[in-house]
Amino acid sequence: MKLFLVVLFSLAYTMLINGQSWPGCTDRCGNVKVEYPFGISQGCYYAGDNSFNLTCNETDNKLIFGGNEVINISHNGELRVLNTRSHVCYNKQGEEISSNYRWSRLGNLTFSDKNRFTAVGCNTYAFLNTDGVGNYSTGCMSTCTSLRETNGLCSGGGCCQTSVPKGSNYFRVRPYSFSNHTSVYGFNPCSYAFLVEDGMFNFSSTKDLKNLRNITRFPVVLDWSIGKQTCKQVGRASICQGNSICSDSPRGIGYICKCKKGFDGNPYLSNENGCQDINECTTSNTKHTHNCMGLSTCENTLGDFLCNCPSGYRLNVTNMSCARKDKPEYFGWTQIFLGTTIGFLVLILGVSCIQQRMKHKKNTELRQQFFEQNGGGMLIHRLSGAGSSNVDVKIFTEEGMKEATNGYDEGRILGQGGQGTVYKGILPDNSIVAIKKARLGDNSQVEQFINEVLVLSQINHRNVVKLLGCCLETEVPLLVYEFITSGTLFDHLHGSMFNSSLTWEQRLRIAVEIAGTLAYLHSYASIPIIHRDVKTANILLDENLTAKVADFGASRLIPMDKEQLTTMVQGTLGYLDPEYYSTGLLNEKSDVYSFGVVLMELLTGQKALCFERPQNSKHLVSYFASATKENRLHEIIDEKVMNEDNHREVQEAARIAIECTRLVGEERPKMKEIAAELEALRVTKTKHEWSNQNTEESEHLLGVQILSAQGNTSTTGYDSIKNEARLHIETGR
Ligand SMILES: *[C@@H]1O[C@H](CO)[C@@H](O)[C@H](O)[C@H]1NC(C)=O
Ligand SMILES: *[C@@H]1O[C@H](CO)[C@@H](O)[C@H](O)[C@H]1NC(C)=O
Ligand SMILES: *[C@@H]1O[C@H](CO)[C@@H](O)[C@H](O)[C@H]1NC(C)=O
Ligand SMILES: *[C@@H]1O[C@H](CO)[C@@H](O)[C@H](O)[C@H]1NC(C)=O
Ligand SMILES: *[C@@H]1O[C@H](CO)[C@@H](O)[C@H](O)[C@H]1NC(C)=O
Ligand SMILES: *[C@@H]1O[C@H](CO)[C@@H](O)[C@H](O)[C@H]1NC(C)=O
Ligand SMILES: *[C@@H]1O[C@H](CO)[C@@H](O)[C@H](O)[C@H]1NC(C)=O
Ligand SMILES: *[C@@H]1O[C@H](CO)[C@@H](O)[C@H](O)[C@H]1NC(C)=O
Ligand SMILES: *[C@@H]1O[C@H](CO)[C@@H](O)[C@H](O)[C@H]1NC(C)=O
Ligand SMILES: *[C@@H]1O[C@H](CO)[C@@H](O)[C@H](O)[C@H]1NC(C)=O
Repeated sequence: MKLFLVVLFSLAYTMLINGQSWPGCTDRCGNVKVEYPFGISQGCYYAGDNSFNLTCNETDNKLIFGGNEVINISHNGELRVLNTRSHVCYNKQGEEISSNYRWSRLGNLTFSDKNRFTAVGCNTYAFLNTDGVGNYSTGCMSTCTSLRETNGLCSGGGCCQTSVPKGSNYFRVRPYSFSNHTSVYGFNPCSYAFLVEDGMFNFSSTKDLKNLRNITRFPVVLDWSIGKQTCKQVGRASICQGNSICSDSPRGIGYICKCKKGFDGNPYLSNENGCQDINECTTSNTKHTHNCMGLSTCENTLGDFLCNCPSGYRLNVTNMSCARKDKPEYFGWTQIFLGTTIGFLVLILGVSCIQQRMKHKKNTELRQQFFEQNGGGMLIHRLSGAGSSNVDVKIFTEEGMKEATNGYDEGRILGQGGQGTVYKGILPDNSIVAIKKARLGDNSQVEQFINEVLVLSQINHRNVVKLLGCCLETEVPLLVYEFITSGTLFDHLHGSMFNSSLTWEQRLRIAVEIAGTLAYLHSYASIPIIHRDVKTANILLDENLTAKVADFGASRLIPMDKEQLTTMVQGTLGYLDPEYYSTGLLNEKSDVYSFGVVLMELLTGQKALCFERPQNSKHLVSYFASATKENRLHEIIDEKVMNEDNHREVQEAARIAIECTRLVGEERPKMKEIAAELEALRVTKTKHEWSNQNTEESEHLLGVQILSAQGNTSTTGYDSIKNEARLHIETGR
């Protein structure tokens, strides 16, 4: 750990040192400024490449690279050295008296194509041999018989020049003579050959053919770069410092760093010698100086500059000088007009933006508030709590509901009633649902509501409309149900929209289904539920005319330890249990009473309350009772129902209906018993019909009958149907 810290510290220290100006590093050798990545002592040059290790000869203060004197280091990847020329000289007899053939190894540096291979002499040819990028050789020849004046150009007449390829880190230069200069010895005893930067050698036949003006070394440009990877490859690991950018080396290997436009300095340094903003307004460097002309004044900015004009003038960018604004008044008014308009628009925009945001915020807060108020928190708590693992209540968002109902479009209303409005909704997965805007009494009932949502969601009974979920973000909670297609029982019995006339068999089956469902709710559900609003308008029929009990908006849960519950009396006139109405005591027998009314409705096809009936018969129960008493039941039974075969059944059903509607709740049978009796009616009928056709089936049905007689109908009759593929329509109330 200690070691690690020490290493870390020294590393950080090194980085700090490196990030500064390499303290202790000599930045000069003679006249030449030694600039990083080059350096003249250990730790002062770029450590990744020993080619940047230069030497400073302390005797003559010359900076040396590879045996050549360095005269200039440029950040843009160039190094200039003085390279000694090669030569061969002869005497009058054509004997070689001196020669010098130069070669250079350049390490990771390469020679630039800015150089020219040059040969001087009138009996001369010369070769340049390279190494590295293909063993390339080039050369030129020059012959002449007399001295002719030239104009500084190396183009024949004693001098030849050729361009060279870049990229080689080795070169060897050698001049030759055709005839040992014997024919031209008088004015040209030697052949010379050398590399020189283009433009840095002006040939003069009179001066240079003799002894090359005693010039022994010529400037040569060498290319350098960092590493062997491109900028892309090296990425963030490049050594380029602040305000500099990485640039792929022009020589094709590695990269170099460049100061950004408007900055100058050593891009490899991060200190004050690194890339600094150029003050274009004050710099003496003409390359960077500003071009503000005339009245415009220069203002330096980071990386750039501005030319400012005095007021009343504007800058003409063509000549960077200030020109008087045309028609200042006009401009003034236009500006004022434009300014005001734009300002006004901006203001309106800003205000509406803020309003929108505030509205949004308010909406969100409101939604949250409603969610809490409607018991969302409690619901989530209950859902997450133990014991409700198979609960499948989906919590819909307000937006989702809005979209599904097309913004609570009136055209989507399926029904309206005392307990809310039902809309047809289309969910994003294209499934059709019925969305009920439930009505909630007061906040104290929140828990009840949540309980109902939870309980209903757990009821997976084929004759109960399935609750898919709810939305609590709205002021009035929304309940989402499966969509049941064929309207309500009320519509079928009394409505004009369904031209159907239900047969006795269908009516009996529907009665059995309702009775079974209520029995299930009263005793088979985990917590007894009293529907409290059983009526034909709350019985939906699907496309097979299967009954679906709906609207549990008024339903109450009866805690296990209580037989009955005192509540505010709620229900629908005509179906309302008179005992419950007078005492306010709610128990399951209230539903029995209501069911009795429904059964009577099924038998007679009459409405529960009808003011067209005689005074004492406005209520179906009294109408039915008096008809029974007077033994004229057959008169009031729906003519579509009665036929020769079903007298007994109809009479039995009528008896059950009357028992259900007894004034004293205790005298009414239990829903379970009613369900069994009705089921028995139905089964005996079916058995009777089928007895001659299929004995096996009859036996099976007989089994059902036995079960029914024992009151266990729910186990066979009310199996939940899972994954019912068809969509159902709830037409509401
Ligand atoms: C190298 O030459 C450039 C001009 O070409 C000059 O500005 C710079 O100062 C020179 N550098 C050295 C170290 O002499
Ligand atoms: C050339 O550079 C590579 C790294 O790019 C380095 O390993 C090698 O030592 C260098 N060669 C010389 C002669 O400095
Ligand atoms: C740098 O160059 C000098 C002189 O050529 C040499 O003595 C020294 O060992 C070199 N340093 C490295 C690390 O190669
Ligand atoms: C340094 O320069 C002197 C004089 O030019 C020369 O004699 C000497 O050999 C040089 N030293 C090195 C190490 O090149
Ligand atoms: C040129 O000189 C070389 C050696 O000095 C000699 O061998 C050769 O014969 C000479 N050629 C002529 C044409 O004189
Ligand atoms: C260049 O020539 C040398 C021998 O003269 C040889 O070793 C080397 O492989 C050659 N390089 C290339 C790139 O052909
Ligand atoms: C070559 O000549 C041109 C014009 O005659 C001059 O500007 C330039 O400085 C000369 N170059 C050298 C290296 O003497
Ligand atoms: C060239 O150098 C020689 C000896 O090194 C000297 O005698 C001669 O004067 C020099 N010529 C010029 C033009 O500098
Ligand atoms: C800017 O100046 C140029 C040259 O003086 C002139 O041709 C041009 O019309 C001017 N532009 C404007 C917009 O005044
Ligand atoms: C620049 O152009 C303007 C016209 O747009 C002219 O009035 C002004 O004299 C010009 N200035 C210079 C310095 O050329």
